[in-house]
Amino acid sequence: MTDGRLAVRAAVFLGAGAGFRVEELVLDPPGPGEVLVRMLASGVCHSDLHVLDGDWERPAPVAMGHEGAAIVEALGPGVGARAGDPAAGDLVVLAWTAPCGACRACARGEGFLCAEPRGSGHRRAATDVRLRRPDGMPVAVYSGIGTMATHQVVAAEAAIRVDPGLPAAEAALLGCAVTTGVGAVTRTAGMRPGETAVVIGLGGVGLSAVMGAALAGAARIVAIDRVPAKLALARALGATEVIHAGEGPATRAAVLALLPGGADHAVEAIGLAATAELALDLVRPGGTVTLVGMTPQGVRAGVDVYAFVERGIRLLGSNYGSATPAEVFPELARQVVAGRLPVGRLIQERITLDDLGQAFEALRRGDGARRVVTFDPTS
Ligand SMILES: NC(=O)c1ccc[n+]([C@@H]2O[C@H](COP(=O)([O-])OP(=O)(O)OC[C@H]3O[C@@H](n4cnc5c(N)ncnc54)[C@H](O)[C@@H]3O)[C@@H](O)[C@H]2O)c1
Ligand SMILES: [Zn+2]
Ligand SMILES: [Zn+2]
Repeated sequence: MTDGRLAVRAAVFLGAGAGFRVEELVLDPPGPGEVLVRMLASGVCHSDLHVLDGDWERPAPVAMGHEGAAIVEALGPGVGARAGDPAAGDLVVLAWTAPCGACRACARGEGFLCAEPRGSGHRRAATDVRLRRPDGMPVAVYSGIGTMATHQVVAAEAAIRVDPGLPAAEAALLGCAVTTGVGAVTRTAGMRPGETAVVIGLGGVGLSAVMGAALAGAARIVAIDRVPAKLALARALGATEVIHAGEGPATRAAVLALLPGGADHAVEAIGLAATAELALDLVRPGGTVTLVGMTPQGVRAGVDVYAFVERGIRLLGSNYGSATPAEVFPELARQVVAGRLPVGRLIQERITLDDLGQAFEALRRGDGARRVVTFDPTS
């Protein structure tokens, strides 16, 4: 297009029960404080599936995806003036929360809880949207980054520069799974060397929690999934023992046989009430349960209050690995480049936007760790 607008392709969620479709859209140039990025890679996270399945209330149409790596192509007015601003040509990991730096949560160092994130995610006013259908209808952008698209305009604060030596598909995974899973263990739970951990659910997030526990120096890491192939992968990433989850109380007994008295830590990375409840039974008195998996909105889990209190259990919710992306992405990227975080092992398959339907089906079955849409054949 000659007027500064760009023709792009994006996976667009059409509303609960209506699925998604890859559409040709029109992208406006970046406004003040924004940057135009060319997407290199986007992971497919179970949170995208929650959106697709209508588990969470989200606007539609919305350009999907929240786990991406990109190259900065153009800067909007005012970008570049501040230290840390992205520059054209930078490899960036996109953050699904870009903290404002000014609210009370940000002042506490809890950017992941920011009340007014930059770009304000998919709830941005229709009058302030850069992405449209050819007929002019605004298309919202999931979490302000909508990574399942060939290009996107995002808040400059959401584009975090990382080591350009990082392969793009791996960089993409830092944007959600790795930050979430590693951070749940190292930041939210604060695991210390020599402690024991149980991780329930071995998708991209749970396997990242296994990597995080290994990085933290855990003495024992027990990994649990219902899909046997995940168990082998968990071992390769640092699990010392694995359990094939069946039905009923067998999993609890199997964990307690391995770790008599219970683990120091249990991490739930599926998003089921039953496994959140199970996690409470797997820790020792005084142990810490960290919930990472997200259920459909409104789902409640039960707690045996007497036992919970008597045993002095700590129960934590972990949002985005308790990370402030601008600090944590570059640090994780350094760990990957140094060979301390084998993020590449999470990549099951590189796919295109047109393969997304099959990727979501595979995710439903628990088949494979991460599928990554790559937009550039060399990524
Ligand atoms: N807290 C956060 O900030 C945050 C960020 C990203 C994702 N999430 C959530 O984390 C969860 C995991 O995401 P993911 O992308 O890794 O998902 P995923 O679907 O790739 O992984 C889930 C794993 O759980 C296994 N599983 C399912 N039911 C099971 C059962 N009953 N027993 C044992 N294993 C079972 C599956 O086989 C699969 O390996 C999702 O709910 C997602 O929405 C949370
Ligand atoms: Zn995610
Ligand atoms: Zn803030």
